[in-house]
Amino acid sequence: MVLTIRKLADHFAAEIGGVDLTEPINDATVAALQSALDDHSVLVFRDQPFEDDSQIVFSSRFGPLENMLYKREGDGNQPISNITNVDFRTDELFPSSHPRLIANSGNEMWHTDSSFKPVPAYCSMLSGREVPPVGGDTQFASCRSAYESMPEAEQLRLDGLVAEHNYAWSRGKVPGYTPAPEALAQVPPVRHAVVRTNPGNGRKNFYSGAHASHIIGWPVEKGRKLLEDLVSTAAQPKFVYAHKWRQYDFVIWDNRCVLHRGTAFESDKCRRVMRRTTVAGVGPTVSEAGEALAVA
Ligand code: OGA
Ligand code: MN
Repeated sequence: MVLTIRKLADHFAAEIGGVDLTEPINDATVAALQSALDDHSVLVFRDQPFEDDSQIVFSSRFGPLENMLYKREGDGNQPISNITNVDFRTDELFPSSHPRLIANSGNEMWHTDSSFKPVPAYCSMLSGREVPPVGGDTQFASCRSAYESMPEAEQLRLDGLVAEHNYAWSRGKVPGYTPAPEALAQVPPVRHAVVRTNPGNGRKNFYSGAHASHIIGWPVEKGRKLLEDLVSTAAQPKFVYAHKWRQYDFVIWDNRCVLHRGTAFESDKCRRVMRRTTVAGVGPTVSEAGEALAVA
């Protein structure tokens, strides 16, 4: 099998061809895909008509899958997530005031999946099952390119810092949203290194996003400002790739080093049905003593 790799933006993101991910793939192909993910951070595949079972089988080749958080509609606590404006119980659009749509709107803040867990995610895999004709792009921002572009003094200022990430904090920023107590109880606040190093290629990036609340040992507002400034640095157009979905696109992103966000579409008129699997990371990013780990 010969994979083709076509770059999609200046600094990161690539479209991969020459592989059908819905069929069993060998270890060498898995290794090549993981290496491409280390290099490019976002991998786009066209025409991958996954169903839930085949998506779970493929995703599990990258490592153990995370379980999703509790969801009021009953589709949480499983290894695949419904990112959708369609009520899977009735196949109708959720009414525009439905809490599920308000919850989805939380994805429109720049974030990295599961940074609110003690072992944050390695990568997410999103399958476009039904996509709207206009809008609903997913945008990605490279925290590696942004970090590498920073003056050395600014990079050094981040060394050793540890941030608190907290699901309750990020959900509190979504107007009109009350998270389910069952979900909040699953994810007490955690701590993560602000600088992370890819164990495969040694390249560094900063780690922030909507769930990052403040810096341990700093006044809360000062830390919050730093974490927001990092997001703004990564969100500059030169470090962003916006994915326009076609049906059966499949996108894998490296949550260790990119932020992403959803964008609006006519959710009262068009169906958007996406399925996400998330591969767990390999370990915590801070030591038991609470110090940032050099490689994590
Ligand atoms: C996600 C997510 C954004 C989107 O699935 O983790 O943030 O565009 N999705 O659906
Ligand atoms: Mn997400």
